[in-house]
Amino acid sequence: MRLFPPEMDIGPDEGFAPEKDIFGRKKMGEHLTNLVKNLEGPTVMLLDAPWGAGKTTFVKMWRGHLKQAGIPSIYFDAFANDYQEDAFLALAAEVIAAAEDLKLPEEKSLEAFKDKAVDAAKAVLKIGLRLGLRTVTAGVLSGNEIEEGNRAFSDALVTSTGDDAANSLDTILRKRLESPTADRLAFASFGKALSDIASTMARNEEDAKKKPLVFIIDELDRCRPTFSLAVIERIKHFFSVDGVVFVIVTNVNQLEKSVTHTYGDVDAKTYLQKFFHIKASLDAGDNLTQHGASIKYLNHLFRYVIPKDNGNRFSEDIKEMISMVAVARDLSLRAIERVCANVAIAIASTRNLSEAYSPIIGVLCVIKEVDGTLFAKAMAGKVSFDEICDAMMFEKWTRYNGKKENTDIIQNWWRYVTEEESLDQEWRARIGSILFHYSDDPRSLVKYSAKLVNVASFVHPD
Ligand SMILES: Nc1ncnc2c1ncn2[C@@H]1O[C@H](COP(=O)(O)OP(=O)(O)OP(=O)(O)O)[C@@H](O)[C@H]1O
Ligand SMILES: [Mg+2]
Repeated sequence: MRLFPPEMDIGPDEGFAPEKDIFGRKKMGEHLTNLVKNLEGPTVMLLDAPWGAGKTTFVKMWRGHLKQAGIPSIYFDAFANDYQEDAFLALAAEVIAAAEDLKLPEEKSLEAFKDKAVDAAKAVLKIGLRLGLRTVTAGVLSGNEIEEGNRAFSDALVTSTGDDAANSLDTILRKRLESPTADRLAFASFGKALSDIASTMARNEEDAKKKPLVFIIDELDRCRPTFSLAVIERIKHFFSVDGVVFVIVTNVNQLEKSVTHTYGDVDAKTYLQKFFHIKASLDAGDNLTQHGASIKYLNHLFRYVIPKDNGNRFSEDIKEMISMVAVARDLSLRAIERVCANVAIAIASTRNLSEAYSPIIGVLCVIKEVDGTLFAKAMAGKVSFDEICDAMMFEKWTRYNGKKENTDIIQNWWRYVTEEESLDQEWRARIGSILFHYSDDPRSLVKYSAKLVNVASFVHPD
């Protein structure tokens, strides 16, 4: 039994292969490629989409498309680098790795870049330590004490070289007076070296027209707040140069939370605007409504995850139900995927799921994903009819053609298992006859079904 479809394997040259680009995002990829080709000057673009909307899959395909257009790109998984002390080194290392991969004919620019990166990294780390000391001691030490602390730090550095003569206050002060200029020079040379290596990497491709290097930063919204902000700050101050287009792929709401977490009560939106020149949003796909996209994805998932029905409509009914709640509740692809995993678990936990149970099981599979507290109540058999209606947003359910969906069947099933007395006679008899073999109190059906869905709580790797 599969709970999730196999991970999509997207080759580096593949681009938007029609069988994999199930949402038809190729058009958006083409627009972005044209845009980056025509940009002049340093640019940082934000590609925004909610959690689990398909950002990473899109950029993997887009990289192939860029490659086909002769545009080199770098992919930086910020979360995978989150353990690093400083984002500067992590980003610089990625440039070196990409340049080495390309086996540049002009070794010079790579060697120059490495040298300049070392100088700039030293300056960045030094500033970081100085600032760090100030931040750590803020409010505790006086200005003089901070000075002393800085001096002690410099002393420690100098002493470690074993050169006592250099340990004089004069030398230390002189170094400190000189260093801002030296730092500025180091950063300027680094920027120039980056610009040079970017154009060498782009020239390496066949056609001679000037192209940028596209530097994609993904998974920023999963990082520690301080690291994600350090990444965009380092980019703005040191990496944003001519010939390099940064594409920061993230959920901007999440990033705003990182800002308020790190800097307190600041206007996060305005703060972030300093870092981006262009903002784009990942759309649902070519000519696809959100409804269409959900159905496509559900068909894709059910093919892998849900076994074919043996003559009954159990899984078809559930699929329709998920598609409507997905639109009503604006569920991400990842959330849809997890609801389907719940369905797979329920099916695997019993051999005997007829369509009769689909209104109960289907709803519980959704609730388990979207509202853990309510699901726990269902497990305890204490969920109310109104709570289910609120969570499922029945009033917003529409069909593919935009017509309002009649949810009477599902709602009446839930009335039957939560407040049977409020259900009219005809429906009571109808549902009662379907459940003729179920001799317990109808309310216990919720508990029983929730256990099927929950039988094996799973932890998704994401
Ligand atoms: N074109 C596609 N075809 C099939 N599945 C897809 C496609 N695009 C995305 N998915 C699936 O949807 C799920 C979410 O996609 P993805 O990881 O790309 O989203 P994301 O926005 O990067 O998520 P996160 O916010 O967690 O980083 C994944 O399981 C992925 O395989
Ligand atoms: Mg992602």
